[in-house]
Amino acid sequence: MSASELSATPAAADSGAGLGRVPGAAAADGADCPATLGEAWRWARRKVDTVDARVLLREACKCADGRWVSHGETVLEAGQRARLVDWVARRVAGEPVAYLLGWREFHGHRFAVTPDVLIPRPDTETLVDAALALLPDGKAARVLDLGTGSGCVAISIALARPRAEVVGVDASSAALRVAQSNAEALGASNVRFVVSDWYAAVEGRFDLIVSNPPYIAAADPHLGEGDLRFEPGGALSPGGDGLDALRAIIAGAPERLVPGGWLLVEHGWDQGAAVAGLLVEAGFEDRVGYRDLGGNHRVSGGKYFTSGSLANRPRLFPHDIRIARAL
Ligand SMILES: C[S@@+](CC[C@H](N)C(=O)[O-])C[C@H]1O[C@@H](n2cnc3c(N)ncnc32)[C@H](O)[C@@H]1O
Repeated sequence: MSASELSATPAAADSGAGLGRVPGAAAADGADCPATLGEAWRWARRKVDTVDARVLLREACKCADGRWVSHGETVLEAGQRARLVDWVARRVAGEPVAYLLGWREFHGHRFAVTPDVLIPRPDTETLVDAALALLPDGKAARVLDLGTGSGCVAISIALARPRAEVVGVDASSAALRVAQSNAEALGASNVRFVVSDWYAAVEGRFDLIVSNPPYIAAADPHLGEGDLRFEPGGALSPGGDGLDALRAIIAGAPERLVPGGWLLVEHGWDQGAAVAGLLVEAGFEDRVGYRDLGGNHRVSGGKYFTSGSLANRPRLFPHDIRIARAL
């Protein structure tokens, strides 16, 4: 995810779990918040953008979309009104909608999120789709997700490929608590989580390594703007030119892949050429690329053959995947 694409996408949600007041947030006394659904809708739209107003009102009042039009005269209960007032004030202060609601949908599943984890982005579904294209259904495989955060990538893969054994790694134990709880809530029993500085505490070799690492350059001004201000800094930027995490992950992958195993990494829209260079340098062949929903080159990867094995390439998967959406 590039910084410019990192603003939170409004989510449908229903947890109602508030996450602690943002320092400096506007007082949420809601004195000017009207009493009926229709009036509350107009009030919320004046305070925040229309998409946010819609999600916040729907979830605060646990009502169907558009009910503020069809049943605008409905009087809000005290708890609904208080929740709406609180959320709108915090949204005005910049807090991302997903943190207000406590969850975000990703790849068809609902993931709990807290300020300890990056809010899953729709663009990262490209990484999951690319991984699933490499993992035939019904076949056992070992998959490693580096920088798992909320566990959205690891768990989505584990749920879609029940025979895979998935390991999610993160340097943050707080993030891994969120990931573990998501795995339990979603019934993903074939995923486990390890605290590790990239590969340091990881054992064994894998058929597929995936990663959406931090990749925003330290000097990128977007880091100080919008929703990004509320997300963990270590999830957004590795410092420097933004490529250090990708360098470490790509350089370390050959030691952790079985012969013929694949690596897929997400990166910034303008980092494709640099990542291709790193893949070549590390000895990856059959390189592939995927575009995200916005048409940006978002995911790159390759297949690793151990040196000297090219004449007799082992086939991990039944077919050599040529990615349909390859760049
Ligand atoms: C961009 S977030 C991705 C989170 C999640 N996979 C997603 O796609 O929403 C990057 C993650 O990498 C983790 N991370 C940063 N440096 C790390 C390191 N040296 N070793 C392991 N994980 C690291 C961060 O804590 C964060 O959870």
